[in-house]
Amino acid sequence: MQVLVLNGVNLNTLGKRDPTIYGTLTLNELETQIYTWGHELGLTVRCRQSNHEGEFIGWIHDALGEMDGVVVNPGAWSHYAYSIRDALDILTVPIVEVHLSNIHEREEWRHHTVIEDVATHRIVGKGAQGYKEALEFIAQGGTA
Ligand code: DQA
Repeated sequence: MQVLVLNGVNLNTLGKRDPTIYGTLTLNELETQIYTWGHELGLTVRCRQSNHEGEFIGWIHDALGEMDGVVVNPGAWSHYAYSIRDALDILTVPIVEVHLSNIHEREEWRHHTVIEDVATHRIVGKGAQGYKEALEFIAQGGTA
């Protein structure tokens, strides 16, 4: 099973961003963990991160017909980028929306995401562990 793990805007600054909210792992360390978890689950994982919306959308388009599942944390784009929502909506494979922090317990504008209705499953507030659960969800067939 091929799984794409996408991290969006500002997630390259993990480790420098408020560690009380986002944890202490750098993106590189997080991706290393994700590759290890993927390997343990028998998944072929590809991690990518971008601060450029068009590039991010291009990767979602490329996943069509190629990937068996997508794990996505679009960062702040989650809250307003309908372009990313529409790109994800084209996919027919399980999509797991992940947020490191608990967006429901933060500022009001973070409570809603424009991708929640196209995501098959969502995991918030579990830090890096959320990505592990997302991979497990996809490995188990991607149904709740
Ligand atoms: C985030 C939550 C978003 O509100 C924020 O803009 C991020 C990261 C998270 O993983 O908790 O950049 O998606």
